[in-house]
Amino acid sequence: MSNAAIAQEVSKRRTFAIISHPDAGKTTITEKLLLLGNLIQKAGTVKGKKSDRHATSDWMTMEQDRGISITSSVMQFHWNDRVVNLLDTPGHEDFSEDTYRTLTAVDSALMIVDGAKGVEDRTIKLMDVCRLRDTPIFSFVNKMDRDIRDPIELLDEIEEVLKIQAAPINWPIGMSTFFKGVYNLYTDTIHVFKPGQNAVLSDDVRIQGLYSDEARALFEDDYDSYVEEIELVRGASHIFDREAFLAGKQTPVFFGTALANFGVREMLNDFVEWAPPPIARATTTREVSADEEPFSGFVFKIQANMDPKHRDRIAFMRICSGSYTRGMKMKHTRINKDVRIADAVTFLAGDRENVEEAWSGDIIGLHNHGTIQIGDTFTEGENLKFTGIPHFAPEMFQRVRSLDPLKIKQLQKGLQQLAEEGAVQLFQPLKNNDLVLGAVGQLQFEVVMFRLKDEYKVDCKYEPVSVQTARWVECNDNKMVEELRKKGYENLALDGGGLLTYLAPTRVNLSLTIERWPDVQFRATREH
Ligand code: G4P
Repeated sequence: MSNAAIAQEVSKRRTFAIISHPDAGKTTITEKLLLLGNLIQKAGTVKGKKSDRHATSDWMTMEQDRGISITSSVMQFHWNDRVVNLLDTPGHEDFSEDTYRTLTAVDSALMIVDGAKGVEDRTIKLMDVCRLRDTPIFSFVNKMDRDIRDPIELLDEIEEVLKIQAAPINWPIGMSTFFKGVYNLYTDTIHVFKPGQNAVLSDDVRIQGLYSDEARALFEDDYDSYVEEIELVRGASHIFDREAFLAGKQTPVFFGTALANFGVREMLNDFVEWAPPPIARATTTREVSADEEPFSGFVFKIQANMDPKHRDRIAFMRICSGSYTRGMKMKHTRINKDVRIADAVTFLAGDRENVEEAWSGDIIGLHNHGTIQIGDTFTEGENLKFTGIPHFAPEMFQRVRSLDPLKIKQLQKGLQQLAEEGAVQLFQPLKNNDLVLGAVGQLQFEVVMFRLKDEYKVDCKYEPVSVQTARWVECNDNKMVEELRKKGYENLALDGGGLLTYLAPTRVNLSLTIERWPDVQFRATREH
């Protein structure tokens, strides 16, 4: 395919993920987006967290129950002549390193804020990950049909807590039962709210002009105070600046209610215009532009046991340049091997289908028989290695022991492989023979225990370990590293890749250690 044809396909694509705290409305908004994109026909089709609730120990049943939600973890739909790829970031118990890594595969993110609760913990964490690459962020303040907090206060909170400028694009008029709609500060249009349209695309009722008679009639007695507030907001808030947005310094903010299907379409209209098409990606040697002709991509997630009957694993690959065509030959650069790929899959409409063609920005799934690891690069021949697909410092730790002392070797092998695949992180303290696992979400531990038994035939148990967080040690001065190894021996470990890691028993201990060793870097991420 020619460069021009690739450039045209690439410029249409918008690849993003939703970041939010559980319960803010991610499932609801995803559903509305899919409804708009005609991927589903009616609301209530996307599995929400309710039907996802499970006894986490029963991994197999959970997999079966959740077949659809897992295979639909990449959703592609069309909107206004754009091709939108929405990458699902699991919520709730499913929170795992996958969630973080998925954010390395997108070009932008949509942040959902619960209007009643404001900026919450999980969002803060996910924003930290987005900030590593200055990912452009769209914001949607949800649940305007409820009593929410003062919108001005919410904007201040976004700015203060998330350290990003907030530029309101529309402004809510009233809230809860008095919610009348939103006023677009740029087009001078009021988009009128009609409750109870959850399942269908809401009617598009607009009033042109804040100072029109129709606006007066709609706002009734509160007209003057609404106009005053809007004028205040217009004067005091940031003006939308696309450059600042693309640089990750400013977020356009939309108000609406996902449940009542109001404001999502308007946001999506602007999203496909303003969000960036696939961006250039860094490798160890050069930057790869999305419209280059030769194919390249990297693996950001491996999903095990997607089909329990086949015990297969799917490696999710983000295409970074060129196009994939069925049956093409690619080079798996880490192992320097050419492979012909005829059975890459897409995840359309909850089903896995063989993909015929895909372009930069798209996500395809490769069948993985154990050779593919997170972070692996595939190209059409060039020796490249994409960077920016890091490990994130885990926040939960457990010591793992085999119940059968004769199976220690299998346990080590299993853990080594699961760590390479990115399911969990493994640390081996210098001071003893313990095997310490680190994860960012509890579910990771459950999955690992199940898979150790199922795939490696090792029954194991977890024990508490006094580690609160981990930092990768980096220092060019070998002498200093030696000294640290001696003095910090108690808390040092080697990770799955053999790198020196500091396992901090408390945050205070970590701060003190960082202070004590000013010339050593204690990193919260490490590259694959
Ligand atoms: P999540 O995926 O981010 O965890 O959130 P989800 O969409 O599941 O929404 C969490 C709860 O908030 C759900 O209620 C959902 O119906 C509700 N919700 C989402 N958007 C809005 C909105 O705009 N307005 C109002 N009033 N509620 C909203 P639930 O009672 O927990 O579940 P369900 O019984 O409704 O499924």
